[in-house]
Amino acid sequence: MTGLDWASAAARLGLYAPLVFLFGAFAFPVIFARGSLGGLVMERFRRPILPAAILAVLSIAASLPLLAATIDGDWSGAVDSSTLTVLLAIPNIGLVWVARIALAGLLLIWLCFRLAGPSGPFAIATLLLASLALMGHAVMQEGLIGWFHMANHMIHVLAASLWLGSLPPLLVTLTALRDRASRAEAMDALKRFSRVGHGAVAVVLVTGIVNVWLILGQWPLDWSSLYQLLLATKIALVGLMAATALVNRYVFTPRIGGNGEAALRNIARGTVVEILLGGSVLALVAVFGLLEPA
Ligand code: HEM
Repeated sequence: MTGLDWASAAARLGLYAPLVFLFGAFAFPVIFARGSLGGLVMERFRRPILPAAILAVLSIAASLPLLAATIDGDWSGAVDSSTLTVLLAIPNIGLVWVARIALAGLLLIWLCFRLAGPSGPFAIATLLLASLALMGHAVMQEGLIGWFHMANHMIHVLAASLWLGSLPPLLVTLTALRDRASRAEAMDALKRFSRVGHGAVAVVLVTGIVNVWLILGQWPLDWSSLYQLLLATKIALVGLMAATALVNRYVFTPRIGGNGEAALRNIARGTVVEILLGGSVLALVAVFGLLEPA
């Protein structure tokens, strides 16, 4: 990996992390916590939401010059107008880049002017995440299988983002469970999250396996290949995330009614562990998604 590759990986992570966070922050009030709990989640995340959107815009903006520099094999390629012009004319690169800039800019304006509720930014974050399937290894096949690959990738990214992105709002829900006034609403949101969360995890696993077969055609067991080593590490981390989620759901959640405070503390700890593991998963994808899948 060269310095340019690391910069490209950083730009990818600089896009994934804020998008997943924003998607989760807006999905939670729309899907799981209608009413005052949704308002509480929005209030708690009022500060980090704007910097996250700015980071997403900057990462998108940097991605095209970084691609140009990678193609030219030198940092000077980042400002090489002929390479940039050629890239802009390629629909899967130029058009997607312009559309992402436009969407992220719209999101930023929406957030700056505090327009209406969470549904608008939720829709924009969904489109931006779905656009990840329009580039990279997701578009390596043509014809029917190519369309299938793209659709599978889109569903993978959205389900994974729903799982990981909902975890910070879940922490807010856990604090709301301690408050008698918001307890019933928070319990409802927790139940809805648990139901939808099971589905999201199952979809992530199935679409992830399909992705592996479409891209690699085998299990990632040849660890002399950096792509396979990092992919295998990612799968192991996701396994740990799923195990933590299961312990939270089936060991600690039933205890909320009894020794509530200890159970809530354990669920919060487990949720933080899941967030850290999920962040590492994103960092791995940011790197190995740039490598030759061999
Ligand atoms: C919390 C769990 C997961 C998260 C957050 C996650 C996240 C992501 C993201 C954001 C991408 C898109 C990269 C891009 O197009 O720019 C991706 C791609 C991918 N994911 Fe996952 N994923 C998860 C679980 C899994 C699992 C369980 C598998 C395999 C069994 C898997 C296999 C893949 C593969 C093969 C790709 C394509 C990488 C490439 O472009 O070369 N993922 N994942």
